[in-house]
Amino acid sequence: MKFPNLEDARLRNKEAVRYYDAQPIDNPSFFHGKKYFLKTYGCQMNVHDSELIRNLVEGIGFLSVDKMEDADLVILNTCAIRENAHDKVFGFLGRCKHVKEVKNPNMIICLCGCMAQEPGVCEDILNRHRYIDLVFGTHDMHNLPTYLVNLKRGQTDFEVSSVEGDVVENLEYKRDSKYQAWVNIMYGCDKFCTYCIVPYTRGKQRSRRSQKIIDEVEKLKGEGYLEVTLLGQNVNAYGKDLEGEISFADLLERVAKTGIERVRFVTSHPWDFTDDMIETIGKYPNIMPYIHLPIQSGSDKILRAMGRRYTKEKYLQLFDKIKAVVPNVAITTDIIVGFPGETEDDFRETLDIVERCKFDGAFTFIFSKREGTPAARLNDEISLREKEKRLSRLNELVNKYSLEANKRYVGKIEKVLITGKSEKDENFLAGYTETMKLVNVQGNIDYIGQIIPVKITEAKSFSLNGEAV
Ligand code: 5AD
Ligand code: SF4
Repeated sequence: MKFPNLEDARLRNKEAVRYYDAQPIDNPSFFHGKKYFLKTYGCQMNVHDSELIRNLVEGIGFLSVDKMEDADLVILNTCAIRENAHDKVFGFLGRCKHVKEVKNPNMIICLCGCMAQEPGVCEDILNRHRYIDLVFGTHDMHNLPTYLVNLKRGQTDFEVSSVEGDVVENLEYKRDSKYQAWVNIMYGCDKFCTYCIVPYTRGKQRSRRSQKIIDEVEKLKGEGYLEVTLLGQNVNAYGKDLEGEISFADLLERVAKTGIERVRFVTSHPWDFTDDMIETIGKYPNIMPYIHLPIQSGSDKILRAMGRRYTKEKYLQLFDKIKAVVPNVAITTDIIVGFPGETEDDFRETLDIVERCKFDGAFTFIFSKREGTPAARLNDEISLREKEKRLSRLNELVNKYSLEANKRYVGKIEKVLITGKSEKDENFLAGYTETMKLVNVQGNIDYIGQIIPVKITEAKSFSLNGEAV
């Protein structure tokens, strides 16, 4: 049994990163005909990890089902970024426990991902949630088939490494889409923003070798994929941990030169955003003019306390430069309200910056105290009521500018990658503009999987309506 330890994770493993290929999956029919249910919480990284998990469990014979109640294996791929993520997971686990008790005592219940990297959670599971059979962390995912086979032969298990150092190559994914693909370019994060648990749960920054990334993009293109999104907690710090490796700007250029229709990337840290990057994004038409650029706060005092490494002024300079060089670029952001010590004046500075930038969209959050992070030790005197009020004042402004940005599209013809039927209305198709605006499109079902011109007819805060032309 291996347990995670936040102290070890903070100290970082000084050993060189090990790069190796995943082992082929043994025991292809060990669980032949058994059914699994997978639920994913959290960010795109988790969504992509779940594509790996699907490939691994289907590789040992499991078939996917849509209802947890029908499954022999339930896997929860969890998120630790905010407290409410925990509550949701334990709520769902309660339902799984019930089904295991009354219907299927052989059900295997598995918790993995970021929550598994938190020591408090592991102890809690050992003490109070013994119906959970297997816990494994973010560094151990590729070993899942072995864990499951061992489990069937043995007992409850924990496999959560806290000292990490691996980059596993040759991973196979069962991708959710045939047109859009995630491509990991780096793992972990070394930024240690004071509120954030990610550098502990995901470990130190490890970049993949650029040639492996290019090979993967080429392969996806050959399979007919139209879009790749380069994925990392801090994508534009790519390569900084690897001697002799190219920069993110150069990687972006090489990916663009593969000729794949659309290239995206998330998430960028303002501190690592170079002029070269901006130039490359402006230069290649297949690098999409959409940038997610978290600001977190508009107050220099709070930015410093968050350990963000930039001032409001620096952010604005960067923002203006991107807008000047990349035509029609859309920029979205992340904002936290109620960070310890945030006064009404600090918060007003955040509102001011939203007024100034008129973001295309923003993900807004109330500060959530994560045990083990530096910000958890700060005096948090703001009441929840006040934080909620700030959040709703902020959201009102954010939504106003999203709608304003969207309204500028009405009457224009946009290139839209049609990804499927609309979730809201079966009679519509859904897709994304180059600037990552969701469009509900009137048009023929045959357009799915194509990039087509769409005339935008109506704008809402979170989506556009349009007709295929
Ligand atoms: N509390 C609230 N929001 C957080 N985020 C990260 N950690 C926390 C936290 N402890 C937000 C940041 C980040 C986004 C992914 O989640 O805004 O950019
Ligand atoms: Fe967390 Fe900051 Fe790293 Fe983003 S850059 S994952 S907010 S520590």
